[in-house]
Formats: sequence, C-alpha cells, structure tokens
Amino acid sequence: NQPPVITIDGPSGSGKGTIAKLLAEKLGYALLDSGALYRLTALAALEREADLTDDATLTEIADGLDIRFEVCDGKAAALLESRDVTDDIRRERVSMAASKVAAMPGVRAALLQRQRDFRQPPGLVADGRDMGTTVFPDAPVKIFLTASAEERARRRFAQLREKGVSVSLRDLLEDIRARDARDTNRAASPLAPAEDAVELDSTGIDIEGVLQRVLQLVRERT
Ligand code: C5P
Repeated sequence: NQPPVITIDGPSGSGKGTIAKLLAEKLGYALLDSGALYRLTALAALEREADLTDDATLTEIADGLDIRFEVCDGKAAALLESRDVTDDIRRERVSMAASKVAAMPGVRAALLQRQRDFRQPPGLVADGRDMGTTVFPDAPVKIFLTASAEERARRRFAQLREKGVSVSLRDLLEDIRARDARDTNRAASPLAPAEDAVELDSTGIDIEGVLQRVLQLVRERT
C-alpha cells in the first residue's frame, strides 16, 4: 500500500505552490514542487547554452541533473551542483525556458521517476501541471486550482514588488498568457485537470479560504 498523495495542479500563479506548502506543513507530509525540477533543468540548459528545442540534449541534461532540495534557515532551498540557485530559478528568463524544456517528451520522461521518488510515508503533497494526470494517477485527492490570468498577473506583480523587482503588469500578463498557451497546447502531458480532480477557482478568494476548502476535501477522501 502506497503512501497517499495529494496532487495540486494548475496554471502558474494560481497559488498552488503556496497552498501545497501550507498543506504539507499542516499534514506533516513531504512536498514536491515539480516545477522546480523543470526550472533546474532549464537553468542547467541555459548555463550550458543548450538549444532549448533539442530534446536529445535536454534529456541528457535532465538525466544527469545533480540537484538537492534542502531546508536552510527554515526556508526551502534548491541546489544545482551544490550551488544555491533558489532565487535564480525564479527569474522570468528561467520561467520561460522551463516551459520550453517542459514541452520536450524526453525531458518529461527523464524527470518522471525522480518525481515518484518523493512519495514517502506518511504522505506527499505534489504540485505542478500533470501530478494528477501522469505522475500520480492513483492519488486519492486531486485538486485543479485556477484563477483568471489577470488575477495571477496581479499576484505575481505584488510578489515581485515586495522583493523590490520592478516589472510592468502588462509584460507579466503577456508572459503568463504565453506560458499558459505553451503548457496547455503541448502534446506531452498538457496542463489539464484529471478526470477525477476537483476544480477550484481561487479568483477573489484568499489563501486561507482556499486552504480550508482543500483541507475539507482531504478529510473527506483520506
Ligand atoms: O510551477 P512552475 O511555474 O514553477 O513551473 C515552471 C514550468 O515548468 C511551467 O511553466 C511548466 O511549463 C513546467 N511544468 C510542467 N509540469 C509540471 C510542473 C511544471 O510542465 N508538473
């Protein structure tokens, strides 16, 4: 009997990362931020100046990735070849590259087992695009979290402003739409709710409200 998995899929900026983290803390479960794996692959590819449309080369990079996730000073850190790249993988350039490498079937296959290895007792919260459809199809709780593109751009804008990064809301909205289109239209594991997923629209709902709704689902299903 496998430990339970709660999958949270949805487009960028829907709040799934925040909800997944809070949920994992609350339940004492492990956390898989699958987007970070694609971001790390993208960063490694950018550093090697790899062609972001060359599946064979990108697959080799994904296969050979030397990565670790650690908690440093109470914060989750991502390490690439022992370098702390937590902030680097959140940059817009890497976000864009991540959605390009994520469209490569070879890259997705290379990262599949690494993602499944996160499933450990007492359970796992996994967030991404295809957690419920491809990586953990047998998960007892599947959530598909959405929000309007405008709201997601506003949230990202506020986050970046807090960090002192200045960007235009219009550029962010354009980036979000481009990434949505790429994630939704790709052939390999496109962004889509699993048939048995519960869809939640977080537009106009705060984090606490979404978390309560998700916890209720977990209680009903595990
Ligand atoms: O979730 P996050 O924005 O960090 O993911 C970065 C990119 O990685 C996404 O735009 C998407 O293209 C890709 N991704 C994916 N499948 C996942 C998680 C992320 O294709 N399970």
